[in-house]
Amino acid sequence: MRRTEALRSLVRETHLTPGSLINPIFLCPGEGVRKPISSMPGVFNLSIDEAVKEAEACAALGLGGLLLFGLPAEKDDQATGAWAADGIVQQGLQALKRNRKLDSLAMIADVCLCEYTSHGHCGIVSRDGDRYEIENDASVALLAKTAVSLAQAGADIVAPSDMMDGRVEAMRTALDDSKLVNTPILSYASKFASAFYGPFREAADSAPQFGDRRSYQMDGANIREAMREIDQDIIEGADMILMKPAMPYLDVIRAARERYDVPLGAYQVSGEYSMLQAAFARGWLEPERAMMESLLSIRRAGADFIVTYFAKEAAKVLA
Ligand code: PBG
Repeated sequence: MRRTEALRSLVRETHLTPGSLINPIFLCPGEGVRKPISSMPGVFNLSIDEAVKEAEACAALGLGGLLLFGLPAEKDDQATGAWAADGIVQQGLQALKRNRKLDSLAMIADVCLCEYTSHGHCGIVSRDGDRYEIENDASVALLAKTAVSLAQAGADIVAPSDMMDGRVEAMRTALDDSKLVNTPILSYASKFASAFYGPFREAADSAPQFGDRRSYQMDGANIREAMREIDQDIIEGADMILMKPAMPYLDVIRAARERYDVPLGAYQVSGEYSMLQAAFARGWLEPERAMMESLLSIRRAGADFIVTYFAKEAAKVLA
């Protein structure tokens, strides 16, 4: 049954479709800006006008949606740019939602503070000399405010990626109180403290200025804890969950798939993309086959949808 493509196609168990791929977008201030990210070939910081063009290309390729990140003009210790009504992602959402050619794309807003804080942590920080602490509850209050602001600007889905405790419940309550009852929450329920986020921090200008994220993101050794995090987020009201990173954690995706019936996505993160791109640049791996195999492995592990920097390229192959 492997002899011809017709036979292989007939017995194929796992399929990729453009509609299950989500393309991340990094919005930046300005006009006509298309700034390449050196560690992520093919990925750019885009001003809103350029992002609209990019989104039109994504819609034409049949992608399922966009995941929006923002690089604010200014950062501060309260992450004002995350929740301001005229924040960069809020403005971007308004422009994207105005364009009816983009109706086929789900606009997903990442909810985190790290791109907007002067210190680059995902929450509010209190400092005492060279010691610091992430203030969970103060962070959750701002994250809930951010989710409401993004939903008001037009986000179809809000996606908290900060890993503070209790954020999903706080967001659900805040959204409902603001009459945003129809905005679903896609929780990055199982997010590991990973070295594979390295290139993203260049793209989003969000590297922590001191310390690291291990006091809020999960220890890569813990699969049972990942299940507890997902349980908790579903109890708090998460509608869908996102697993991250993907390739080094395929066993965690599989475990979650077997245990939960909620829609489940996985994020093929920046480092997974960049290491493949580096190998392509050296001619060490066949680009198209390696790209498709990496995405297929994530689907086979059980993800319904995949956030990936390869979304457009993969959709072209699938067309
Ligand atoms: C924000 C956030 C990060 C990523 C998605 N949302 C960075 C981080 O946690 O440091 C990483 C995505 C990627 O590497 O592609 N907290």
